Amino acid sequence: MTQEGVALGRMLFFDTRLSANNQISCASCHQPELAFSDNKSFSSGHSGQLLNRNTPPLFNLTWSESFFWDGGVKNLESLSFTALMNPHEMGSDLSQLCQQLNEDKNYSSAFKKAFGIDSVSSAYVSRALAQYMRTLISANSKYDSVQQNLAQFSNQELKGQVVFKNNCASCHQPPLFTDNQFHHNGLKQYFSSDDLSLTTGRFRITRDSSDLGKYKTPSIRNLSRTAPFMHDGRFNTIDEVLTHYQNLDPMNQLQDSLVRVIRFSDVEKEDLKIFMKTLEGRPTRTR
Ligand code: HEC
Ligand code: HEC
Repeated sequence: MTQEGVALGRMLFFDTRLSANNQISCASCHQPELAFSDNKSFSSGHSGQLLNRNTPPLFNLTWSESFFWDGGVKNLESLSFTALMNPHEMGSDLSQLCQQLNEDKNYSSAFKKAFGIDSVSSAYVSRALAQYMRTLISANSKYDSVQQNLAQFSNQELKGQVVFKNNCASCHQPPLFTDNQFHHNGLKQYFSSDDLSLTTGRFRITRDSSDLGKYKTPSIRNLSRTAPFMHDGRFNTIDEVLTHYQNLDPMNQLQDSLVRVIRFSDVEKEDLKIFMKTLEGRPTRTR
């Protein structure tokens, strides 16, 4: 990563000219003030048609082992092509886009500075975007300060941490609060095994029936800004999420390698919420 590469990536990320109708940028769906997510269950882009999955927030991507809810993309350098070209996201024609960028003096000189190239190609568009996205770090929450011995948890936060460790941490593993793995967390879902659509989760990638309905564990940092929740944005509030976990169908639990049964009382639920609030951070970069 270079400063020039990151600056160029930032310019591209917020530029609506990257879309076919010049109206949509990456930031239309990945909004900085919402931890680079949006507040919709499903967003729509170029075609106006709703996408099939909830827009995830973007932070701490440097430590992600795979991307998208089903882990279908392995590296950040190639990911942007999907968003740029998908008719339902930005609907862009890459060669036209590169021509446009080449003709723009600001861009051609920024690409020259960042990569030493005289002619813009899409690979460099994607590389610059990846460099910018890697700078989106969320690591300055109260939780992080406590880990650095710069702050202390209150009694209730400590109690909530215990509930969290007993019920949630096996998948939402600190410090990223994801294990980067795929699980079925007991959501009621409907699909058939000959269905290869996006609603089958990890199965779409592996074609292994034990992966039906599994999704990548999302980080639970910054929840105050990332609602609605789950791959399909079905829950609007943290309360709804916790009620879901309190009422898990035991059959669903058995489908996954849940080490232990999830169980917590209503009092513990309040403690858990207080603990999860300590995972709110100001993003180190808001733009
Ligand atoms: C119309 C809305 C929309 C636009 C525009 C959009 N995205 Fe996304 N983005 C999504 C959705 C929805 C997903 C989840 C897709 C999935 O899991 O199948 C996603 C996923 C991602 C991810 C993976 C995050 C993770 O943790 O797995 C990254 C990175 C990303 N987008 C970057 C970008 C970039 C860069 C652009 C601009 C070139 C962009 N997005 C434009 C909606 C959008
Ligand atoms: C077996 C692993 C596992 C356990 C245990 C687990 N989760 Fe999850 N969690 C997941 C997965 C996987 C998802 C995404 C599921 C989906 O969208 O289909 C998720 C989603 C969430 C979300 C939504 C985040 C978002 O941005 O959409 C929250 C909040 C959450 N879990 C909190 C908790 C809490 C609190 C506990 C403990 C009471 C817990 N989880 C236990 C795997 C787990």
